[in-house]
Amino acid sequence: MPRFSRLVLASACLVGSATAFEQLAGFKMPSLQGMKKAAENKAKFGDKKLAIVTGTSSGLGRATVKHLLRTGEYHVIGAVRDLDKMEAIAELDELNMDLFTPMYCDLNDFSCVRKFCEDVVKFANEKPLDRLVCNAALYQPSLDYPKWSADGIEQQMQSNFLSHFLMISLLMPHMKGAVGPRITMVGSVTGNDNTVGGGGVYPVADLKDLDGLKAGARNPISMMDGYAFNGAKGYKDSKLALMMLSNMLHDKYHRQTGIAFSSIYPGCIAESPLFREKRPWFRKYFPVFMKYITGGYVGEDEAGQRLFQVMHDPRCSKSGVYWSWNGGPREGRGAEAIEKGGQIAGAGGAGGGWDSIYENDQSDKVLDKRKAERLWDYASAVVGAEWPEANQPKSPCPTLKVVGLATSFLERREEAKRMAVRPGIDGTPVMVADDKAGAMLDREIGFLKSLQSKLLGELPETAVKGSMIDNGVASVPRPTSILRPGSEEYTVTLKRA
Ligand SMILES: NC(=O)c1ccc[n+]([C@@H]2O[C@H](COP(=O)([O-])OP(=O)(O)OC[C@H]3O[C@@H](n4cnc5c(N)ncnc54)[C@H](OP(=O)(O)O)[C@@H]3O)[C@@H](O)[C@H]2O)c1
Repeated sequence: MPRFSRLVLASACLVGSATAFEQLAGFKMPSLQGMKKAAENKAKFGDKKLAIVTGTSSGLGRATVKHLLRTGEYHVIGAVRDLDKMEAIAELDELNMDLFTPMYCDLNDFSCVRKFCEDVVKFANEKPLDRLVCNAALYQPSLDYPKWSADGIEQQMQSNFLSHFLMISLLMPHMKGAVGPRITMVGSVTGNDNTVGGGGVYPVADLKDLDGLKAGARNPISMMDGYAFNGAKGYKDSKLALMMLSNMLHDKYHRQTGIAFSSIYPGCIAESPLFREKRPWFRKYFPVFMKYITGGYVGEDEAGQRLFQVMHDPRCSKSGVYWSWNGGPREGRGAEAIEKGGQIAGAGGAGGGWDSIYENDQSDKVLDKRKAERLWDYASAVVGAEWPEANQPKSPCPTLKVVGLATSFLERREEAKRMAVRPGIDGTPVMVADDKAGAMLDREIGFLKSLQSKLLGELPETAVKGSMIDNGVASVPRPTSILRPGSEEYTVTLKRA
């Protein structure tokens, strides 16, 4: 068989065995400790998925827990700032406490978030986490001055965005091994300015150049953009940042971890306590306005169904999506709901149910990847988050690993040589250690190169002369060996520089 055909055959076998290897890579000899933990977890959680939801003591979070527990498929950890309130709510909602574990977490305090994550990890006992929902939020649009967190950060910026950012960095590594894990941000139409609710009502979400976050975002800096405080804008900016974060996580980690990252707009839950800081007349008429004029109204229970759907529906295992739901009273959804046996629910026929879910468009600001990178870096610095390297999945093929190891050694030496001079930039040679092994390797590489040109033949004329615009004289020759301090070539290059 000709050599080339043998090579093709060999690579085909490697591809085949790589797939098989990939499938087998997950199987490991279980350790005694591992088997003990698995047995403990089976007794503690059964086959339930482990879901963490922040802000389960009110509104959307509260309603979502009810829907999750109804399925009997989840054990929910509720992150709350008031355990007594949560206990009362759990009693009112008749929650099955075998399936629900409230844990203390004040998002206005980074040390508390860190402690919460430690508690979750301890509680999970190495059972992988299946769901994380960043739902809790504060809305403080009424005062003309900011309220500060325990860390001296404007509260909406910290509770809604930064603390969830930190929480994800701490819990995401513990989702490894989960089947179809998901992380969901509760976003808002107000953070997405390609809508009437987001772009048509002053103030509009806009992180500008993120100067406030870059400068550390501590008192007296109260806004991510670094300009004067505006409470309503602070809330909208925090939602914009969360939605950008969802996309960033998708880009960086979806392929590597299999986690589905998404954000949602649950609809306008106009009667939820989120609006507690608005004036009484606003709280009275806002739901009416949303129900009968704009059509954006949704009741707490239906909003809960929506968030539950994103955590549960197989359709929502798709990553990088901003989920929303169609429907509104002006579209006659009330009548339609009756026709569909109540499938489309919602007071006054407002809102759309399970089947009206769709992948909504995201605004240019949400999709701004360059700004999202800066948001990521500055937020990481502020909260002290550490993230796993964002690698694409690696080939599991063992042959490639061996070849890669040898290549990376040569690559380092050759690159050190190539990088010794930067023509047109600084000309100063980079100092490279004068080691004997290096010199030997240079000789070996030289020998391999001459062997290579003998085996492969001379370079074609076109490679030497084609597209020539400087009569064949390279402007700065590539160094032929590593420049070692003290060597003649090193001194010549220094003088030239
Ligand atoms: N309401 C709407 O129209 C609407 C529209 C779009 C998006 N959303 C989003 O939906 C989510 C839920 O809002 P909601 O309407 O359900 O409001 P909500 O009833 O006020 O619920 C917010 C939850 O967050 C908790 N929370 C607030 N600050 C916290 C902190 N520092 N530490 C821990 N927990 C804290 C609250 O705890 P307490 O019970 O102790 O107050 C509460 O459980 C939010 O992300 C919101 O931005 C709401």
